[in-house]
Amino acid sequence: MIPVVTIDGPTASGKGTVAHRVAQALGYHCLDSGALYRLTALAALQRHQALDDAKALGEIAARLDVRFAGQKIYLEGVEVSLGLRAEEVGSSASKIAVFPAVRTALLERQRAFRMAPGLVADGRDMGTVVFPDAQLKIYLIASVEARVQRRTKQLIENGIIANMSSLLHDLRERDARDTQRAAAPLVKAEDAVTIDSSELGIEEVVAQVLDCAAKRGLGSAP
Ligand code: DC
Repeated sequence: MIPVVTIDGPTASGKGTVAHRVAQALGYHCLDSGALYRLTALAALQRHQALDDAKALGEIAARLDVRFAGQKIYLEGVEVSLGLRAEEVGSSASKIAVFPAVRTALLERQRAFRMAPGLVADGRDMGTVVFPDAQLKIYLIASVEARVQRRTKQLIENGIIANMSSLLHDLRERDARDTQRAAAPLVKAEDAVTIDSSELGIEEVVAQVLDCAAKRGLGSAP
């Protein structure tokens, strides 16, 4: 059985960075499942597809022509790594993620990332729906204030102009949508370990996750 570490949590809780570092430390592959929802949203926006047509959006998700090459992400052969991080794409991703047709279309694509020697997957339903048999499940939370600060910093670093009050509004809206939807809502898996990163730096969170992983015998042998 190929081991999986899942890291679920709300927007801007630091999941992406933590998942990346943990994957590096363990020598595992990494799946940023949010990128698949963002790619579906971006493809829909590019086609001027209405974001409330579940069937059409499910078809877009099923036919996504994407390629992950290290940190770079390509949609239909065009690099979209930076464009994917835009807030409009993130909130559109959250809107289309409510549809079971979209989620089902992306399910096998996500499971295909489970390759030896192991996988670290981050998202909202990694531990509950996509990899319910994961060897380690982390539920990463942080206060709204800490998350707004982080997201602002992240956007500025990517050269995107950020407005804190609209970010706060967007973040609350996305939290509500991601936790209250009927299909695979963001919820802590029963067997997940909760880490609150509000007062912790990335390194400390990574160390805690690696500690949990070591206790379960995960990672490369010394
Ligand atoms: O993690 P992120 O911010 O890149 O994700 C963007 C949106 O995609 C998020 O608001 C909800 C959706 N999503 C999801 O529904 N399930 C996942 N496993 C990952 C993301």
